[in-house]
Amino acid sequence: MRILFISPGYPSEMPFFCRGLAAVGADVVGLGDQPAGALPEMTRNALSDHLQVGNLWDEEATVEAVRAWPGARGIDRVECLWEPGMLLAARLREALGVPGLTYAQTLPFRDKEIMKRVLDDAGLRTPRHRSARAESEVRAAAEEIGYPLIVKPIAGAGSADTHRVDDPADLERVLKLTRHVPEVSVEEFIDGEEFTFDTICGRGEVLYHNVTWYRPRPLIARTHEWVSPQMVSIKHPAQPDLQTGVELGLGVLKALGYTDGFTHMEWFRKPDGEAVFGEIGARPPGARSVDLMNFACDFDAFTAWAEAICHGRISQPIERRWNASQIVKRAHGEGHIQRIEGLAGIMARYGQWIPSVELLPVGAPRRNWKATLLSDGWLIVRHPHLDRCLEMADEIAAELQIYAG
Ligand SMILES: Nc1ncnc2c1ncn2[C@@H]1O[C@H](COP(=O)(O)OP(=O)(O)OP(=O)(O)O)[C@@H](O)[C@H]1O
Ligand SMILES: [Mg+2]
Repeated sequence: MRILFISPGYPSEMPFFCRGLAAVGADVVGLGDQPAGALPEMTRNALSDHLQVGNLWDEEATVEAVRAWPGARGIDRVECLWEPGMLLAARLREALGVPGLTYAQTLPFRDKEIMKRVLDDAGLRTPRHRSARAESEVRAAAEEIGYPLIVKPIAGAGSADTHRVDDPADLERVLKLTRHVPEVSVEEFIDGEEFTFDTICGRGEVLYHNVTWYRPRPLIARTHEWVSPQMVSIKHPAQPDLQTGVELGLGVLKALGYTDGFTHMEWFRKPDGEAVFGEIGARPPGARSVDLMNFACDFDAFTAWAEAICHGRISQPIERRWNASQIVKRAHGEGHIQRIEGLAGIMARYGQWIPSVELLPVGAPRRNWKATLLSDGWLIVRHPHLDRCLEMADEIAAELQIYAG
């Protein structure tokens, strides 16, 4: 199996997926804007060839460059696991005549309005929604849907430009803030908890699935800097209060005809238990969520994905042993990291439950917490019992503090 892998060096999970492909016997060739010599070592070791283009996002020029490249001969699949490259991957599949999502099949994964229309037609529950371009259309949609509501870009990511709106006066404020967004979705605001439903599919079967609980809801985590956002991969996604969401997600895969690869879905659980669908990406979740899956099940989800798309199976044992929480920390103050408080005490008490600590070192510049989900680093804590995992995670979130200056 010869695979063209788009952007094999970035984001930071990509080298692991490339390594997984090589490990299951695939011949992997890269396509990206980095020179081969600048790729991470793990990627370089996995690739048999690499095409560097000037501007990866110039679809037409990139397709032409690939067509003219001898390395593109004999390609069986085109893979992209990064949201900005999904449509480029589809264009390349069509140009090279290889299977996988076409341009038209990719659109529902990229455009939140098209996605919801397909799901509505399949009878799957989404928030009531309208798309709108002009301000007058947004106001009309708001009248129809009612308050509170959400205004967000139809092709958003990272909760950028996503706003909760409580009344018509609030809407005027948000209209000003979203003037630069050409088209928005206006949606019924869904109250409740938020979860993911992530899958690895092969030949139409769901071979692995994961449910991660966002604590708190992403929009809240993205609004208040003092929050230490947590993502908790749940050991037992089969528990009854998650079943409505799992079933909804399986229905979505069917409605979209998704058969091979990773998916990342998000859904809401209302206080009355009803599951409402949020969104789906035809790719793995970012922010090192795949590592979290590995820590929850003691396996290698990167290689599992590779085996699923190359051979239609996952042969590693998947043992659901742990609830695993990733706790992201944001420094106090601006500038460079000066000190990290509380870590020694936490490690002394809970070290056996903490398989990974990835905090920025003292001296490093602190990151812009709005621009990166991983902020100034993270720590993973896991435990066989969910209650205990959550208790430790909350304690760590409160006790571990990073100071910049
Ligand atoms: N209809 C809704 N009701 C309540 N909250 C919502 C709704 N739509 C979006 N949100 C909130 O805004 C967040 C971001 O929305 P969404 O996931 O649609 O956008 P996104 O920019 O693709 O996000 P990301 O890339 O962070 O997953 C959600 O996780 C949720 O907290
Ligand atoms: Mg989202």
